Amino acid sequence: MVEYDSSSIKNIIQKDSKDLDSDDELAGFRSKFVIEDPNLIYLDGNSLGRLPIKTKELVQEIVSEQWGDRLIRSWNERWLEDTSRIGDKIGLVVGAKPGEVVIADSTSVCLYKAAVSVLLSDQERSVILTDDQNFPSDIQALRAAASAVSKDHEVVVLESDSVEDPVDVLLEAIDETVALVSLSQVSYRSGWCWDLSLISQKAHEVGAKVLWDLSHSVGVVPIDLRGEEIDLAVGCTYKYLNGGPGAPAFIYASENCKDFINPIAGWYGSKNPFGFDPDCQPDRDNRRFLTGTPPLISTLLIEPGVDLVIEAGVQNIRSKSVALSEMFLFKARQELLPLGFEIASPLEKNNRGSHVALSHSSALAIGQALINEQSTIPDVRPPDLVRFGFAPLYTTFTEIEECISRIKNVFEGGGVSRWENSHPIVP
Ligand SMILES: Cc1ncc(COP(=O)(O)O)c(C=O)c1O
Repeated sequence: MVEYDSSSIKNIIQKDSKDLDSDDELAGFRSKFVIEDPNLIYLDGNSLGRLPIKTKELVQEIVSEQWGDRLIRSWNERWLEDTSRIGDKIGLVVGAKPGEVVIADSTSVCLYKAAVSVLLSDQERSVILTDDQNFPSDIQALRAAASAVSKDHEVVVLESDSVEDPVDVLLEAIDETVALVSLSQVSYRSGWCWDLSLISQKAHEVGAKVLWDLSHSVGVVPIDLRGEEIDLAVGCTYKYLNGGPGAPAFIYASENCKDFINPIAGWYGSKNPFGFDPDCQPDRDNRRFLTGTPPLISTLLIEPGVDLVIEAGVQNIRSKSVALSEMFLFKARQELLPLGFEIASPLEKNNRGSHVALSHSSALAIGQALINEQSTIPDVRPPDLVRFGFAPLYTTFTEIEECISRIKNVFEGGGVSRWENSHPIVP
């Protein structure tokens, strides 16, 4: 792994992007993804990762052989083992032991289950603490969890400016009334990255639990759930794990949460799912958080993407992520601020995940012009953020440099005014 200090970062931003690509130890991973159009600069892997070539091949095998030929026999022959193996591989990426990570549902549903399980375990405390940089669905799921448990529970949404430093505001708010602190490790807006240990430690000091949403960090930020004494975590598999659109999420609970119950109990989370007994007790390990039949095809398709992350190593991925982001920020400061952009992400690399957000009053038009005229895909989050996601397994340094000049093309070629009145459903 290359550790980037200020002098090595200086080195990156002074070097030619082609040289950086030829020195890049992860460069070979790009050829493991389907890249139909080499001119397309895809900077939205923080939302939906690219398709691994192996996944494309696996679809055929799963559909034709496992489903088409072996039919229901596949349960005994492989599906039970396959699904737990894939969970264990995600466990490797996030620092969990085999059996501790299970694949289930969507992130929102996993978050709801985990939050209710905490609230039911200690009804003396009534506050669930989160912040306004958390993903909206998380806040909705936390509110739903609070009202499912009692009318006295409340979700406190801290107002924080996560571009600066929200740590002190949060630490101060964690007191003895708090049952649960739940945040996204990396904010979907600014890319702010919380220090898991610091927040978890403070929560534990006052007897609260922590529940992290790892959707924007898993596979790109080193995570050690056991080492950092995290109680509960959930995350999605379709961003930096490249699991595919709508791929199921995962849930982790530590040993100290072993008595917490799944509020949406179902046959698949019971000790003996194929006993078909309504009185069967929940499984003793984290399988108890499962509910119904998993979406098998999408679950099995997660594996090739996770394998690529394991093969590359999250530390190496992180190093390249820092380098790509620093290069983008350096060039953005020089060339994009004069066009009316502001940097809406933390400048300190340790406080950032793997995307950089720029704010601009014409964000939506800029995003549409880039997609429709410049073969460049970022995304836009209202009202004014254009997000650029760097997925080190396939994003190149040359693409970063080229992206900056395509953004300038949008302005110079009148793209902003051409797209000013466009209102796509997905921005
Ligand atoms: C941080 C975060 N949490 C939760 C979600 C929602 O995930 P799901 O649709 O799987 O419930 C997303 C989706 O992008 C997300 O970015």
